[in-house]
Amino acid sequence: MSALLELRGIEKRFSGVHALKAVDLHVDEGEVLALLGENGAGKSTLMKILAGVQRADGGEIRVGGEVRSFRSVAEALEAGVALIHQELNLAENLDVAANVFLGREPSRWGVIDAARMHREAGTWLKKAGLEIDPSTAVSELSIGRRQQVEIAKALAVNARILIMDEPTSSLSETETRKLFDVIRDLKASGVAIIYISHRLGEVQEVADRVTVLRDGEKVGDLDKEGISHESMVRMMVGRDLDAFFPRRQGEVGEPVLEVDGLRTLAFPAESMGFSVRAGEIVGIAGLVGAGRSEMLQAVFGVDRRLAGEVRVGGRLVRGGSPAEAIAAGMALVPEDRKRDGLVLEMGVGENLSLVTLARDAFPGGFRRGSAERQVEKEMGEAMRIKTAGAGQAVGRMSGGNQQKVVIGKWLAMDPEVLLLDEPTRGVDVGAKHEIYVLMEALAERGKAVVFVSSDMVEVLAMSDRILVMHEGRLGGELSREQASEEAVMALATGGKL
Ligand SMILES: Nc1ncnc2c1ncn2[C@@H]1O[C@H](COP(=O)(O)OP(=O)(O)OP(=O)(O)O)[C@@H](O)[C@H]1O
Ligand SMILES: [Mg+2]
Repeated sequence: MSALLELRGIEKRFSGVHALKAVDLHVDEGEVLALLGENGAGKSTLMKILAGVQRADGGEIRVGGEVRSFRSVAEALEAGVALIHQELNLAENLDVAANVFLGREPSRWGVIDAARMHREAGTWLKKAGLEIDPSTAVSELSIGRRQQVEIAKALAVNARILIMDEPTSSLSETETRKLFDVIRDLKASGVAIIYISHRLGEVQEVADRVTVLRDGEKVGDLDKEGISHESMVRMMVGRDLDAFFPRRQGEVGEPVLEVDGLRTLAFPAESMGFSVRAGEIVGIAGLVGAGRSEMLQAVFGVDRRLAGEVRVGGRLVRGGSPAEAIAAGMALVPEDRKRDGLVLEMGVGENLSLVTLARDAFPGGFRRGSAERQVEKEMGEAMRIKTAGAGQAVGRMSGGNQQKVVIGKWLAMDPEVLLLDEPTRGVDVGAKHEIYVLMEALAERGKAVVFVSSDMVEVLAMSDRILVMHEGRLGGELSREQASEEAVMALATGGKL
């Protein structure tokens, strides 16, 4: 019997990169296959080829034993192959229902049947675990919710083969649980699922089999019994990673960042105060929508503060402009790299130099090519950023490598206070480890590090102290000794310890 889907000898080259080298892959009905590999290994490219987004240079795709060749996304959808993109792909100016049915709007006498579209969209959204009004504008949704709209969109086409490229990277624990329920239902109804994730705990939970790519080649498969954290890491990076979470010995000093009576636009009725000491790493936990990103943005001054004071090293930072925050020694690595992190058309060196060049503005406004190359070399090495040669536009790099560029850009300015919003979202295990090492190194040098994360393991392992947010306020604080998954969840859902 042949597999529901079979890829044989898939080849893909981009100018300068041999992205896929004779890759084979198969998946059966009702099977969840996890596709793993480091940033830039070729996972998204392979899936885009399967879903008709890109054309292969060679090889064969078989669906139900028949050779198929998809010239467009529409053709792939017709054959039952749907892809949920890693970089979200929704139409900002349309409402949720219109996005779910984009290109396939139900019509009556040649006019879009809006009532039916909204009704049916509601059903699919529910199945994807999202209970919102289908006429909500997409631009009003958080990343987590947009991700769920993407899932509803794929469910609505009744896909037989559903590809999820890092679906949980911006979902909370609860939302991830919901997604796993959806996956179980789909599996039971015979849908084949290809699941890409850098969260190995999830893979262990959800996958029936694992296929690993490295540098565009298939390294091998692991069956259900063979799946373990160690076996997956070894296959992906080709070596064991020791001390995944580094621990420093450093001393904690004076408060560097002090926040007092802060009120944000998102939760105008709530006010927050906390401080972070030199050498301290503080994790901000909470459910998606608890106001964590809004808090960081208000501290940094991207968003207006309604009230409150922020001090760095005892000096008042008035707020209202990121430029002032940067001058005071603050850096913010944002959550949505596509929106506020990068200039996608520019190269790595230029992106890495954006902040430092703005800060040390050069009289006359020349762009300093040599400084750019220096930063590119240093940060590129420290973060192991993988490009297809100098000058590659950042927009063409793999998702995880883009994330590294965002972080590298802010680290290059050597901040006193580093604010990170979901810093390891979408980065591979090796790069995660490198980001942790960089956070620790900053703390050890007496800087204050604050990070928002929805990855429970990471929050528990990396934080000296955890602040838990619930509906726009600080629900509680946990010391390293008090910290546990149960304690974080209790506070995050509005409970007490
Ligand atoms: N449109 C493109 N033009 C040029 N190079 C590309 C393009 N798309 C992908 N690449 C390159 O192909 C390689 C594979 O990228 P791909 O996005 O498939 O990686 P990935 O395994 O999905 O990584 P990640 O985990 O970071 O998402 C990378 O070196 C990337 O820079
Ligand atoms: Mg990818």
